[in-house]
Amino acid sequence: MKSTNHADTATGEKLIAAARGAALNAHAPYSRFGVGAAVLLTDGSMITASNFENASYGLSLCAETVALASTSASGKLRDVVAIGVIGGAMDTGGVPRGLTPVSPCGRCRQVINEAAQMGGRDIIVWCGAAEGNAMTRYLLSDLLPDAFGPADLGIF
Ligand code: THU
Repeated sequence: MKSTNHADTATGEKLIAAARGAALNAHAPYSRFGVGAAVLLTDGSMITASNFENASYGLSLCAETVALASTSASGKLRDVVAIGVIGGAMDTGGVPRGLTPVSPCGRCRQVINEAAQMGGRDIIVWCGAAEGNAMTRYLLSDLLPDAFGPADLGIF
């Protein structure tokens, strides 16, 4: 795995701020839980997204998955170095609230691993809350040890 120099707190704060902005566009009328994600690329640019729910509840997509699908559609899946995520129960105005950091669900961890494998990089995951300064930095390999990946398929 390549090392990265995007692990500093300032980078985390930038990603969490961008994720908070994205969460304002969450389509989450069923759970009323708004989530935002911001993907950081090697060139310093970011791709943001929010959760995208569906009246057929099981079809709902998490913010991290939407952000990485968008990253892939931009041809940048190999360039992901970090991702920030925030979430919280929405107030009546649709703004996520709360001080508890959100960490990616199991499915999203597997989706993040796809980017990690394509880029040959252990992706940094910043978990923040809708409000406040609490923020935790993880490595994907800590959140998803012994991940299933292309090597298990005999690919790469
Ligand atoms: N959600 C995310 O967007 N990311 C996660 O990592 C956890 C959950 C969304 C899915 C659903 O729209 C809402 O949060 C409540 O589960």
